[in-house]
Amino acid sequence: MLVNVNGINIAYEERGSGVPLLLIHGFPFNRKMWAPQLEGLSRVARVIAPDLRGHGESQALPGPYWMDDLAGDLHAFLQVIGVDRPFVVCGLSMGGYIAMAMYRKYGVHMAGLVLAATRAGPDSEEARQGRVKNIALAREQGVAAVVDGMLHKMFSAKTVQQRPELVRQVRAMMEETSLEGITGALQGMKDRPDSTTTLGLIEFPTLILYGEDDQLVPRSEIRAMEQALRYPRVEGLPDSGHLLNMEQPEHFNSAIERYLQELGLV
Ligand code: MLT
Repeated sequence: MLVNVNGINIAYEERGSGVPLLLIHGFPFNRKMWAPQLEGLSRVARVIAPDLRGHGESQALPGPYWMDDLAGDLHAFLQVIGVDRPFVVCGLSMGGYIAMAMYRKYGVHMAGLVLAATRAGPDSEEARQGRVKNIALAREQGVAAVVDGMLHKMFSAKTVQQRPELVRQVRAMMEETSLEGITGALQGMKDRPDSTTTLGLIEFPTLILYGEDDQLVPRSEIRAMEQALRYPRVEGLPDSGHLLNMEQPEHFNSAIERYLQELGLV
């Protein structure tokens, strides 16, 4: 489905009824990464998975894509599709950065927050330099060159070895990202703010999910988020890397279902 949100065409999929559960994809992915959650969680919630601007089938605009702007797109999008009750946000990696930006601006409308394979801290100097290199690589050699450099870091070694079909699907999904999407998101992530103090303001339990074999998010970042939150709930998923919702979908979905139960939302 496609809707126009403040002049930007946003593609999305939704399934189920009940508490609205907004799923925000990571970089450089799109709503297809949430297929196991659209399937498994629509029994208990109204699962809503949009493509961010410049990703998947949503319209590409020139960057930078500041996390606040992406959060603004999503809040306006929820209004356009008729979400008129408190909603839960689940963001993976860059989706988590956007989810924290959403809390800063629209937290009063939120009933819950799931932070998956993400971090609250800003980029290190080394990470910022890596973004600059990837922006140049994308412009000079195209999206596929950036995807090549990232693909295997997305999974646990076990997934790479045992699930070549999943790795192939993820590569194809990453290559659907537009050049503007890649460069705009890299620019926005590079200069994103520190969200650690934001976490300290959240008054409902917040669920942190991480892959025990995630090569991109060190455990120290997970501990820092846990310490910053007032009511943290933390769960590590074995045999899982950065794309834990695709690598361990049943475990991921049952953790979210239990969390929604704890909040009294299902
Ligand atoms: C993601 O999966 O969204 C990215 O790894 C986030 C990042 O590059 O910081």
